[in-house]
Amino acid sequence: MILVTGGAGFIGSNFVLDWLAQSDEAVINLDLLTYAGNLENLTSLLGDTRHIFVQGNIGDSTLIASLLQQHQPRAIINFAAESHVDRSIHGPADFIQTNIVSTFHLLEAVRTYWDNLHVDAQTTFRFLHVSTDEVYGSLTKNEPAFTEAHPYQPNSPYSASKAASDHLVRAYHHTYGLPVLTTNCSNNYGPHHFPEKLIPLMIVNALAGKPLPVYGDGQQIRDWLYVKDHCSAIRRVLDAGTVGEVYNIGGWNEKPNIEIVRIICTLLDQLHTRADGKSYNEQITYVTDRPGHDRRYAIDASKIARELGWKPIETFDSGIRKTIAWYLANQDWVSNVTSGAYKNWIEQHYKAQP
Ligand code: NAD
Ligand code: TYD
Repeated sequence: MILVTGGAGFIGSNFVLDWLAQSDEAVINLDLLTYAGNLENLTSLLGDTRHIFVQGNIGDSTLIASLLQQHQPRAIINFAAESHVDRSIHGPADFIQTNIVSTFHLLEAVRTYWDNLHVDAQTTFRFLHVSTDEVYGSLTKNEPAFTEAHPYQPNSPYSASKAASDHLVRAYHHTYGLPVLTTNCSNNYGPHHFPEKLIPLMIVNALAGKPLPVYGDGQQIRDWLYVKDHCSAIRRVLDAGTVGEVYNIGGWNEKPNIEIVRIICTLLDQLHTRADGKSYNEQITYVTDRPGHDRRYAIDASKIARELGWKPIETFDSGIRKTIAWYLANQDWVSNVTSGAYKNWIEQHYKAQP
């Protein structure tokens, strides 16, 4: 079996669902259920014995040691993190604690477990650390996209804390021989995305008749990847990646924020016309810029294409249509998240499980 951390969050829940749709290999899903963890993302797995959910902290060495001893996973995929840049600006402490200190405790517990494995199991074991392109810093409009050799220049407390965790993972390979893999991915979008991030916030606010807050001039550029493509890249790196290597993952899809917002408005105009017949574009509002806002991220994903044969399936047009369709079809999920009721849902549905 495999151990997934942070598997109730946005990318982790998509990963767990995709994994179990393609394989019968069981998943232990360790998640602290912070505000970003939502077991409603995993409703379809209720009663599925291949999914073992454990509420807990990656920084709890005793818990990790006992889970590893009990279940003997052949691999760990580490999604657990604080993930929102704006929150890291308002309150960096949780980011330092989770992304750096707790990741260190996780690595220590994993090192002890791995040290005591039989040599065959040691050779095949993998610790895959899921990271971000934001560790590389910001690009100007004409600079080449980030390769794996790009220097680390993180600019926000979020990206600095992820950079620190990447360095720890690298050091555990270099010093102790732990068989690690690191992936640095661009901005994801798709189902289960918490509506504090750009794309789900714009969809949810548009439908609620609220302003669509575009930071600064809206010309900041991100590379966008549909979440299921990220999941397939992680599976591919886990299967075939070279131990100790870093793989950049991206969608070859750079767009300025304002263009993303206008695409969402245009699609919603077609799929869910406003009651007054006007365009959702009218809700766009330019607001004060984010402090230290990175101007451009761009991923050169040619290494993973060349060495592992991975490339994304979705275009931005197909991915954003699927995403909007999911949010329109899952208004209960949206209202549970925006009202906070998803926390009660956990009590009602999961605590009742044996
Ligand atoms: P998310 O915030 O939606 O989910 C994070 C999950 O981790 C939540 O379920 C939360 O409860 C859990 N968690 C937080 N602290 C924990 C702890 N101490 N112990 C156990 N669980 C804990 O994040 P996401 O967008 O799904 O991102 C997942 C990973 O991918 C993160 O490491 C993030 O840095 C990375 N990443 C995200 C993106 C993106 O666009 N969202 C892009 C590249 C990389
Ligand atoms: P976000 O989804 O927070 O991801 P990240 O900061 O990790 O790239 O933001 C994506 C881009 O959208 C980023 O340039 C900030 C911008 N943005 C807005 O303009 N308005 C918003 O309300 C949010 C949440 C983000």
